[in-house]
Amino acid sequence: MEYMGNKEYWDEKFAKRDDNLLNPEKSLVGGIGYFKRGTILDIACGDGRNTLFLLEKGFKVTGIDFSSRGLERLKMFSKKYNYDVNTIQIDLNNPNALNDIGVFDNILINHYRLNKEQFTRIENHISDNGVLFICGFGHMHSIDSKIREEDLIQPADFNDIKKSFELIKYIEDKDERGFFVTYIFRKTS
Ligand SMILES: C[S@@+](CC[C@H](N)C(=O)[O-])C[C@H]1O[C@@H](n2cnc3c(N)ncnc32)[C@H](O)[C@@H]1O
Repeated sequence: MEYMGNKEYWDEKFAKRDDNLLNPEKSLVGGIGYFKRGTILDIACGDGRNTLFLLEKGFKVTGIDFSSRGLERLKMFSKKYNYDVNTIQIDLNNPNALNDIGVFDNILINHYRLNKEQFTRIENHISDNGVLFICGFGHMHSIDSKIREEDLIQPADFNDIKKSFELIKYIEDKDERGFFVTYIFRKTS
């Protein structure tokens, strides 16, 4: 339960962090060349370690999360480095949360598992040839008190989007924190 957590859990976690931002996701840094120039929606952006990296790379980024503390920190870091960021507080537990979010050239979902209903509609929010980047604990990660079976990214998660997206890169990575997968898709139609 803790991994996805509730708003209070994440607000408290972000409030305890110091003024240093964590490093961006390794596979995002390595995969940045696949992204389409333009806009990015960072879903469940937290305090913005990836959002900041994308801003540095010249993308126009919108970060969404339900943690007001996380978004405040993201705004604080963006101001410090003179970047313009768009933030929206959204609770993704609401099945219609993304209905009015608009269309982006890329979508990033890092260490958050979007629910199936929202995920099957994700293609409506990506422009043609746009990129969908997903990274998190994968199917071979061990389950414990913090990470539940339903938090793990499964290959079958992508069955419904195969018609509109091609997989351009898949990475598996195992380290002391666990088993991670990265999927980079490009929208074909
Ligand atoms: C493991 S963190 C990942 C943060 C960021 N993507 C990263 O890679 O550093 C999970 C994030 O999901 C957010 N989150 C969890 N449940 C959410 C929900 N129902 N609606 C919106 N955000 C949620 C948390 O606030 C937290 O920022």
